[in-house]
Amino acid sequence: MPAGAGEGEDNVAGMSTANEAATPFEGFVLGIETSCDDTACAVLDAGGRVLSSVVSSQLDVHRPFGGVVPEAASREHLRNWPGVSAAALQEAGVDWSDVGAVAATRGPGLVGSLLVGLSLAKAISYSLGVPFLAVHHLEGHLFSPLLRTDGASRSVPESMVGLVVSGGHTSLLAVDGPSGAVTSLAETRDDAIGEAFDKIGHRVGLPFPAGAEVDRLAELGDPAACPFRVATIKSRELAFSYSGLKSQALRALGEIEAGNGHAAGDEESWPQEVLDLLAGFRRTAVAQLIDRLDRLRDERPVERLSVSGGVAANRLLRREVVAWGERRGAEILLVPLRYCGDNAAMIAHAGLLRLRRGDTDDPRSADAESRIPFLTRQEETT
Ligand code: KG4
Ligand code: ZN
Repeated sequence: MPAGAGEGEDNVAGMSTANEAATPFEGFVLGIETSCDDTACAVLDAGGRVLSSVVSSQLDVHRPFGGVVPEAASREHLRNWPGVSAAALQEAGVDWSDVGAVAATRGPGLVGSLLVGLSLAKAISYSLGVPFLAVHHLEGHLFSPLLRTDGASRSVPESMVGLVVSGGHTSLLAVDGPSGAVTSLAETRDDAIGEAFDKIGHRVGLPFPAGAEVDRLAELGDPAACPFRVATIKSRELAFSYSGLKSQALRALGEIEAGNGHAAGDEESWPQEVLDLLAGFRRTAVAQLIDRLDRLRDERPVERLSVSGGVAANRLLRREVVAWGERRGAEILLVPLRYCGDNAAMIAHAGLLRLRRGDTDDPRSADAESRIPFLTRQEETT
């Protein structure tokens, strides 16, 4: 169950090794993430070191239905919580009585799933008499590149641009000033990038979520054999758009099927033209991100760029943003692989950052919300 991975997965180009400044908070932060179908619990110390990060996947429950079944997800969270929380505490070597604050995702996500984690966090906060933090899911992803796999987390830099790429978001955000005030630079106008990966993967018969497998298969194809057009919208416009690329790729798959009768492959034999198509799709999806970064850099300095979210695990994206940083003179903060996908360490960490500013939430008024703008929350708190 622990969401661990091998050694050497930190991939933080040009990252300094300075530790966090001293902080008045000295306990352990328990994080809870139940916004969709993963039940996750993590423990961080006051320096932002991840002592444990446990993620229990429900994929086996939802897969036969081809997507997440909300009612089943809530029930599974309740079923998984005792084991997941016990494992997180045990791995961290702490007891309930050592927990000094509790942070949980309040939204966006499936409301029934969110309610499980948020209600648990409120109950823990009441029973232990410790601060409670209701965290926006995007806030968790945005600051996750500051987490390290082997020590205290890095302090929030004075100025940072954050690219969050996941199944639900394709967002470009600016973080400025000592309190980490966040402003939105760009969003997707239609599909999120991860959603596009999942839909193309689904079309070729891959199980949900298909992004990681599309990425793996794309390594075997030749992107030049199947080029697609990067969505430009208007020149200098920073907004993203993935529905056009998705339609182009689906149409091309239809043409392959019409030609040879099938576009789906199996473990041993994927038609080369499908692999080329996946490679072309991936290259164009990533090229759009790089294009928007170039547009942004043409307008303003970008000292550092953080890249996070499930799609930040994409091999090509990881290579391309590092190359972009070298080309455009920006420090690149890539989220460690183990914190790309949804996890509770990023939620505990975002909670810790707010705790350090003395900014906590009232459990009586914090509510789970399926759709909730991130920046309203930030503007309230900074
Ligand atoms: O952050 P995340 O776990 O959940 C959301 O907040 O959405 O991101 C999940 C998304 C899915 O769409 C999944 O297919 C995608 O991240 N993903 C990838 C890769 N690994 C996961 N997409 C492209 N390449 C990958 N290697
Ligand atoms: Zn996420």
